[in-house]
Amino acid sequence: MSKPLDGIKIIDFTHVQAGPACTQMLAWFGADVIKVERPGSGDVTRSQLRDIPDVDALYFTMLNSNKKSLTLDTKKPEGKEVLEKLIKESDVLVENFGPGALDRMGFTWERINELNPKMIVASVKGFSDGHHYEDLKVYENVAQCAGGAASTTGFWDGPPTVSAAALGDTNTGMHLAIGILTALIGREKTGKGQKVAVSMQDSVLNLCRVKLRDQQRLDRIGYLEEYPQYPHGKFSDVVPRGGNAGGGGQPGWVLKCKGWETDPNAYIYFTIQGHAWAPICKALGKEEWIEDKAYNTAAARQDKIFDIFAVIERWLKDKTKFEAVDILRKFDIPCSPVMSMKEIAADPSLRASGTITEVDHKARGKYLTVGSPIKFSETTVEITGSPLLGEHTDEVLASLGYNPDQVAALHLAQAV
Ligand code: COA
Repeated sequence: MSKPLDGIKIIDFTHVQAGPACTQMLAWFGADVIKVERPGSGDVTRSQLRDIPDVDALYFTMLNSNKKSLTLDTKKPEGKEVLEKLIKESDVLVENFGPGALDRMGFTWERINELNPKMIVASVKGFSDGHHYEDLKVYENVAQCAGGAASTTGFWDGPPTVSAAALGDTNTGMHLAIGILTALIGREKTGKGQKVAVSMQDSVLNLCRVKLRDQQRLDRIGYLEEYPQYPHGKFSDVVPRGGNAGGGGQPGWVLKCKGWETDPNAYIYFTIQGHAWAPICKALGKEEWIEDKAYNTAAARQDKIFDIFAVIERWLKDKTKFEAVDILRKFDIPCSPVMSMKEIAADPSLRASGTITEVDHKARGKYLTVGSPIKFSETTVEITGSPLLGEHTDEVLASLGYNPDQVAALHLAQAV
């Protein structure tokens, strides 16, 4: 079956997570993604945090499915020659090297544009061009600190905290994918390629825009009514960490359920949506609160919100998180069990939708990965195993016109 990105050829010069997450998604949607890796070692994640000796780590396999692997030493003349040929017949080159690495290899934007004016060159860097930190190498947590996520995550009496979600890495890769697809559509109109650049700091900040909203509200009025610090605590002049408070206009909190003493995830997230106040009271058996002026508006509830949460926790005491949600969903209350990774891995709905999917790998056998979070009515996304290092080198070289003797000579020239 044809895929929307069939015929789009991508040179995947990415490593670790931010770049690979982007190119993996484009490969799922049909692009021919050729991952260019250093002979001998390849992407560092192949060997990071291994669970099986000498087998590509899950870190690699879960970010590089549906791709081909071409080993090429692009610092040697023979490797540069192959890369030039690839550039001439590809649509996109994606890279997330440290600042200046591609230029030092001799592949500046100008040179690539000269080789193929239709080429889209897409880059991830820690900070944007011209930023006073533009020379810095950056990993996930560095970006979360630079983009405002860490200062606003965690509890007010603890240090800045990073999120387990890859806000700096995969999130930046997703922004880059949007940039690439936009440039591809733009190219249909202009016939020209362009440079697409996304910084990790900017991508984190893009997800933290409500915190910049809050800074401006705080500057103006001196308090933030939806934060736990209001109305009993104090605000400084910077947005505080709000624990598990809801970030919008709906107060919410993580609440204990039956078994929390021994199960670290026996909790639900409970949201008190303004217009759902009556159903909440009914669900809790507190019908007297429905018309009580001390409780029946969001403003009236705010100064006793933690007392209300305590009442809900008492109601939750004899219910598991799943039982609680099964009751609350009938009352139209936005809530969810706090899901552990073990529960997610086994979740029948996630399996059925393909969001959690089992993939076969030549060396490791079966493993679980996260499938496409984007679902289409006409396109089926099939996830295939990640390539072994250099698995497609001969095939790609042959497609570029190299005969078997030339392929053998290239292997020799690149031997490590
Ligand atoms: N053949 C020959 N050389 C290769 C090669 C290949 N196939 N692939 C990479 N290299 C070289 C690069 O040219 C570079 O050489 P140079 O520094 O001598 O010019 C070298 O490998 C190292 O590249 P670099 O990307 O700087 O690796 P690093 O391990 O020092 O840094 C990061 C890793 C992730 C910190 C850095 O790449 C970075 O900041 N990237 C941008 C932001 C980013 O994406 N962060 C990670 C998100 S998961």
